[in-house]
Amino acid sequence: MNGDRSPEQIEPADGKLGVLLVGLGAVSTTFIAGVEATRRGRAKPFGSLTQMQTIRLGRRTDARAPLLKDFLPLAGLDQIVFGAWDPIPDNAFASAKVAGVLRPEDIDPLEDFMSGIEPMSAAFDKAYVKKLDGPNVKRGASKRELAEQIREDIRGFREKNGCDRLVMIWAASTEIFMRPTDAHASLEAFERAMESNDAAIAPSMLYAWAALQEGVPFANGAPNLTLDIPALLDLAAENEVPIGGKDFKTGQTLMKTIVAPGLKARMLGLRGWFSTNILGNRDGEVLDDPESFKTKEESKLGALEYILQPDMYPELYGNMYHKVRINYYPPRGDNKEGWDNIDIFGWMGYDMQLKIDFLCRDSILAAPIVLDLALFLDLAQRAGLSGIQEWLSFYFKAPLVGRGLYPEHDIFIQHWKLKNTLRWLMGEQQITHLGVEYYD
Ligand SMILES: NC(=O)c1ccc[n+]([C@@H]2O[C@H](COP(=O)([O-])OP(=O)(O)OC[C@H]3O[C@@H](n4cnc5c(N)ncnc54)[C@H](O)[C@@H]3O)[C@@H](O)[C@H]2O)c1
Repeated sequence: MNGDRSPEQIEPADGKLGVLLVGLGAVSTTFIAGVEATRRGRAKPFGSLTQMQTIRLGRRTDARAPLLKDFLPLAGLDQIVFGAWDPIPDNAFASAKVAGVLRPEDIDPLEDFMSGIEPMSAAFDKAYVKKLDGPNVKRGASKRELAEQIREDIRGFREKNGCDRLVMIWAASTEIFMRPTDAHASLEAFERAMESNDAAIAPSMLYAWAALQEGVPFANGAPNLTLDIPALLDLAAENEVPIGGKDFKTGQTLMKTIVAPGLKARMLGLRGWFSTNILGNRDGEVLDDPESFKTKEESKLGALEYILQPDMYPELYGNMYHKVRINYYPPRGDNKEGWDNIDIFGWMGYDMQLKIDFLCRDSILAAPIVLDLALFLDLAQRAGLSGIQEWLSFYFKAPLVGRGLYPEHDIFIQHWKLKNTLRWLMGEQQITHLGVEYYD
């Protein structure tokens, strides 16, 4: 796959990039604050590949390892402008204060900037997020009308802010669990269902439909069905828009997809993996509702199955018991604690245990993912890529994949895929790590 792409095929990253955030809660405000603090030289963008990671090019002896941001024609942080929708009318500064993720000494100096970011009215319906309400909502006779209003918001934002390009990221609450139905099977059926206010059309789908109709790349940071339906996958392909999803890979699932590939690589067996979390932010409250939790649970459970391949290794992983719990516990706020008890076995079946207690900060882990997805989706669009961007699986708990494929969950394979895709885009040699040439 070498030589069939070149950097000249990528449009330059000139002008302003608008990052449209659905939901202006803990993740979005922590992301915005971090970008602005970095721009002002007050913080470092730790956790972001686009800002901090290098990429090896050519042979190991070539000593070529530029930063990704120097290697790729990415938009710079100074080119980003922010927009958002939320049913709660708080501006980004007030919302960040409520979220309580950042310390006053980090957030207060940004008040002038953050308080200028006001959420546009949301396409919101309490039926899909039971534990939330807010007055800043769109009104319309049909879901189609609401979606058309989102399209107008997109165009208005682009014009008002003089944006050359836009990307949209769902960082709003987790909606109730939904399965694909006939209403999702084709674009025609989907649009008819929007007009008839069919319950199969969730608010997140209205944003995704509006973005794709406007040619705006879309990433889904929550486990909602949203894009993962034929109607919207077809629309992304037809309109040549890159998309990614679902559910930002942070916290416990991040650890799971780091540890499980290691155990499997060494052929250590698993009897069970019990994961429990306590968290007390608004996300935790929404997930306290069984219907939203079900959506999250499905997303969290898939990773181990795919990594361990129990069908191929029935003796090692065939009887593994996997359980995930999320418990809303207000005193912890955004500072989640995730416990894992992992019962493993080795040589001759002897039992061992591994305990992980991750005292993490959800939004601190999610914010750099939002930044990387925004910059990489913009790059993908300028490079002429469209539809599901599997190389962005690295960032998701439940990666979207093409029909007939299974998702890749192993974080090391995902990382390799991401970097090889970037090398390929830039006309550089793929790296196989074979390495025999050094010993010839
Ligand atoms: N922080 C993490 O580590 C992490 C990881 C994976 C996924 N997520 C997901 O990201 C999302 C955001 O997390 P958070 O901690 O910022 O939650 P949050 O509750 O602080 O913010 C979500 C915001 O979305 C708004 N919202 C709800 N429905 C909306 C709609 N239809 N339109 C516009 N806005 C809407 C809410 O009013 C709220 O302000 C959640 O779905 C969460 O599950 C977070």
